[in-house]
Amino acid sequence: STILVLHGPNLNMLGTREPEVYGHETLGDIDNRLREAASAQGHHLLHLQSNAEYELIDRIHEAKAEGVDYIIINPAAFTHTSVALRDALLASGIPFIEVHLSNVHAREAFRHHSYFSDIADGVICGLGSQGYDLALQAALKRLH
Ligand code: DQA
Repeated sequence: STILVLHGPNLNMLGTREPEVYGHETLGDIDNRLREAASAQGHHLLHLQSNAEYELIDRIHEAKAEGVDYIIINPAAFTHTSVALRDALLASGIPFIEVHLSNVHAREAFRHHSYFSDIADGVICGLGSQGYDLALQAALKRLH
């Protein structure tokens, strides 16, 4: 199967961005680990980080055309703002898991609402980068 991992705005700054909230690992560390874990089980993992909403939307449209089986997405700040990204996922029909590094519910009120959670297969938050590993494990199980 093919799994696409999408990371929203500012996640390219991981490792140096508020490390007390988001941890010391870089996005490259996380993507490499996920790619290796997927390929060890005979799957193909693709990933994209973008600070631009339209790039994430275009990538989801392509994913549908390419036959991507599953999406793991941390929409970052777009979680709380983007009807357009939500609509792209709905249009793709590709099942997805929403991941957040931090526990958004323990933070500012504006982070408590997500435009994705009600249409996600599942949501993981507050477990740091392990959330991506758990999401991958769940995605692969669901694809079997
Ligand atoms: C985040 C939480 C969002 O509220 C925030 O805007 C982010 C990262 C997380 O992974 O904890 O950029 O999605």
